Amino acid sequence: MDPEEPIVPTIELEKVILRQLKVSDRDDIFEAYSDKEAMRFRRNPAPRTIQDADAMISRSILDARLNKAFRWGIEERISGKIIGTFVWKVENGKSESEIGYSLNKGWWNQGLMTTILSAMVSRLFEKENVTTLFAIAHRLNVASVRLLNKNGFVRMSEDREGLVTFKKNR
Ligand SMILES: CC(C)(COP(=O)(O)OP(=O)(O)OC[C@H]1O[C@@H](n2cnc3c(N)ncnc32)[C@H](O)[C@@H]1OP(=O)(O)O)[C@@H](O)C(=O)NCCC(=O)NCCS
Repeated sequence: MDPEEPIVPTIELEKVILRQLKVSDRDDIFEAYSDKEAMRFRRNPAPRTIQDADAMISRSILDARLNKAFRWGIEERISGKIIGTFVWKVENGKSESEIGYSLNKGWWNQGLMTTILSAMVSRLFEKENVTTLFAIAHRLNVASVRLLNKNGFVRMSEDREGLVTFKKNR
C-alpha cells in the first residue's frame, strides 16, 4: 500500500489548500514547529529535529488510517509551502471531538486561521458526525483565545496550568 495515498480529504480554500502531509513536507513542518515562540503554548512536545518532523508526518498518516485523528497540512497556494497544520481528533467516530491548529509565525495575524477554523468547523458539523467541538488554549495565548471567541467557541473551564477548554455545539 502506498503510504502517501491520501486518506485525509483535500479541502480547497481561497488562499490555502488543506491536504494530507507528505514526507517531502518535512522541512516546512520543521520550520513551523521548531520555533520556540510558536510552540510556547503547545501541550505535547514539539518536533525539535528533522527526524521529529518525519515522525510527526508518519504519525499523522497512521492516525488517519486508524481513524484516530486527521491532521491536514495547510499549504499556501501561491508558494506550495506547508505553513501549518489543523488537526481533528476523531476519537473513534464520537460525536464530540477536539480540534487544534498551528501556523508558521511568518503567517500570523493575517486572518488565515480565522478563515480556516470557520471553514473546518462548518465542514465537521455539516459533513461529519460531529455535534460538539472542543478546543484547548492557554489563557495567555491571546491570539488563540480571540480566534476561538470570534468563531463562537464558549469558555467551559480552566485547569491549574491555565489551560482553558472551549466548546462549540452544532
Ligand atoms: C493561534 C494562531 C493559530 C492564530 O492564527 P492567525 O492566523 O494568526 O489568527 P488570525 O490572524 O485569524 O487572528 C485571529 C484573532 O487573533 C488576533 N491576533 C492574532 N495574532 C495576535 C497576537 N499575536 N496578539 C494578539 N492578538 C492576535 C487577531 O487580531 C484576530 O482577532 P480580530 O479579528 O479581533 O482582530 C497562531 O497565532 C498560531 O499558530 N500560534 C502558535 C500555535 C498556537 O498557539 N496554536 C494554538 C494552540 S491552542
